[in-house]
Amino acid sequence: MKRIVVGVSGASGMPLAVTLLNALACAAGVETHLIVSGAAEKVLSLESGLSVQKLTELADVCHDVDNIGAAPASGSWRHSGMIICPCSMSTLGAVANGIGSNLIHRAADVTLKERKPLILVPRETPLSRVHLRNMLAAQEAGATIMPPCPGFYSRPETIQDILNHLAGRMLDHLEIEHELCRRWDGMPSADA
Ligand SMILES: Cc1cc2nc3c(=O)[nH]c(=O)nc-3n(C[C@H](O)[C@H](O)[C@H](O)COP(=O)(O)O)c2cc1C
Repeated sequence: MKRIVVGVSGASGMPLAVTLLNALACAAGVETHLIVSGAAEKVLSLESGLSVQKLTELADVCHDVDNIGAAPASGSWRHSGMIICPCSMSTLGAVANGIGSNLIHRAADVTLKERKPLILVPRETPLSRVHLRNMLAAQEAGATIMPPCPGFYSRPETIQDILNHLAGRMLDHLEIEHELCRRWDGMPSADA
């Protein structure tokens, strides 16, 4: 059984968080632990019209972002990896600098120190030098930086196609089987 911690912070991209949580809920042998920041609750209602309760229904366990004593705050609690999707520049800065002031930041810090996979899905545009430095620092500390940049080689027809492709790549990095998107199988050669 894989136990995955999902942090949702207050950047734009809530439909992606919903797609990711749905995919994790459908994946066999996965237990999700969800932490939602206060800002994320606001952005969620604005971008998707969903209440935080609807989001929490997609997870197996939910932890209060202010409960710094919850299980994911400890390195002795075992899990298989953490993803922060979307990851605000504020949360990115906290993770890059080891500031464990809420449960998302602390759980990410623990994930790095325990050398488990940590995936950050940062969303902002354009990026300042501070954002870029923080991404580099987080990557050097062991995180995988996965900005939600769509690929068009799969010829997406809907926004949901794009979200599925992005979420599928995240599940790949967590080593979770899925059928969210078609895999690139190479281009036919010119003389085929
Ligand atoms: C509608 C809305 C959209 C936002 N989009 C972004 C964004 O794309 N990226 C970002 O870094 N911050 C964004 N913010 C600002 C963050 O929510 C804010 O910095 C917040 O303090 C982040 O807190 P958190 O990281 O604890 O969730 C947005 C705020 C709102 C209200």
